[in-house]
Amino acid sequence: MAGTGVFEEIIDGDVYKYYSEGEWKNSSSGKTVAIINPTTRKPHFKVQACSQEEVNKIMESAKVAQKAWARTPLWKRAELLHKAAALLKEHRAPIAECLVKEIAKPAKDAVIEVVRSGDLISYTAEEGVRLLGEGKFLVSDSFPGNERTKYCLTSKIPLGVVLAIPPFNYPVNLAVSKIGPALIAGNSLVLKPPTQGAVAALHMVHCFHLAGFPKGLISCVTGKGSEIGDFLTMHPGVNCISFTGGDTGVAISKKAGMIPLQMELGGKDACIVLEDADLDLVAANIVKGGFSYSGQRCTAVKVVLVMESIADALVEKVNAKIAKLTVGPPEDDSDITPVVTESSANFIEGLVMDAKERGATFCQEYKREGNLIWPLLLDHVRPDMRIAWEEPFGPVLPVIRINAIEEGIHHCNASNFGLQGCVFTRDIVKAIMISDAMETGTVQINSAPARGPDHFPFQGLKDSGIGSQGITNSINMMTKIKSTVINLPSPSYTMG
Ligand code: G3H
Repeated sequence: MAGTGVFEEIIDGDVYKYYSEGEWKNSSSGKTVAIINPTTRKPHFKVQACSQEEVNKIMESAKVAQKAWARTPLWKRAELLHKAAALLKEHRAPIAECLVKEIAKPAKDAVIEVVRSGDLISYTAEEGVRLLGEGKFLVSDSFPGNERTKYCLTSKIPLGVVLAIPPFNYPVNLAVSKIGPALIAGNSLVLKPPTQGAVAALHMVHCFHLAGFPKGLISCVTGKGSEIGDFLTMHPGVNCISFTGGDTGVAISKKAGMIPLQMELGGKDACIVLEDADLDLVAANIVKGGFSYSGQRCTAVKVVLVMESIADALVEKVNAKIAKLTVGPPEDDSDITPVVTESSANFIEGLVMDAKERGATFCQEYKREGNLIWPLLLDHVRPDMRIAWEEPFGPVLPVIRINAIEEGIHHCNASNFGLQGCVFTRDIVKAIMISDAMETGTVQINSAPARGPDHFPFQGLKDSGIGSQGITNSINMMTKIKSTVINLPSPSYTMG
């Protein structure tokens, strides 16, 4: 059960504490933030509404702790990360339970998220030891006009304090994908979890606490965005921000000042289907890619661009699979569960109604109860409909019929987003040419978009993000190169 057993110390009454200076604390604000269960639409958990002074205290201790941590041997840093990974996996059940209650993640997927996170941390520890254990050695006479009088040694050093802001849909996994790289690289870490998902994140942070990381090295601050959001992202103590989420990332990047940013801000991931594609494979990937976790993934298939000649056959196969999806509460491990908030459900409904008014064909009846929206395929969608361009983050998927491959590529590239895309064809040459033409950070050939495995590079073009993630890239991003140059006497110097 959440908040019991080893997790007892993270809760006081019915309010979860925040984590600062290696201790679980109540905020002096006396205020709390309620977390609404998306299924019942009733308050389920409460977290502390931290104050700006509490953020200042966290930043001060993060700075002090980082200095000592940067001098801690790499193998010791890795050892603690391995401990945290093991603890996370050991306590997967209560953490997964939080994911079910806070973000309506289907029960089995919730466990998978926690286990995947443990694996991610372990891989990060191993990758970091190798990557950070190496540097470069350069000699000066490889550049014109120089004698061999300078030896340059380079190594990777930490940035300082990393601020991690993960999204509601992976509050554990997308938190550790920032925490692991930051820590192995010698940084300290301040986590601001999403409100929906904060309690799962606090449990995850407790696993790092139990692993024995030094006081102040990791902190977790909860509260209202209006009170501490800008204060955190514009805080002079922050040396790097890693953010995953929506439009807020654009605002953060404008305000953040001269620090490295890693941003992943969503996508309108297109699925281009050619005439020679294996339609059973395509249908299976469209349904898994478009509807898993009710479409609330930045890598979900968000628009299908199918050649007209095979569109009827594909739509029929997709509809047959949609008919088999179960719809209901996450506790039952339903395929389709309530979307995270009522405002998300209202937004999705707005896109659906706009498409209806403009003449899209609904392949299923549109049905909604509270935050629960039944899966819907919208056929004959045209570019004048909002759903052709906007990201629903829900179980509704538009199909646009195309008459030429170029039309599909054009639609994909006309989007402001450029996260991932996919193409289905048996012709590998065509697939590679289409991949080259698509302006997205990744193109999957014959599979739906996906971020994992977690060591693969993961990046978005245009409004989809800044920088590249994936374990190796994140470790590199959270470091700077430091050079030391040894100057030797001129070649005429004699040692005798
Ligand atoms: O929502 C954004 C995530 O990065 C998607 O990750 O492809 O593993 O679902 P995923």
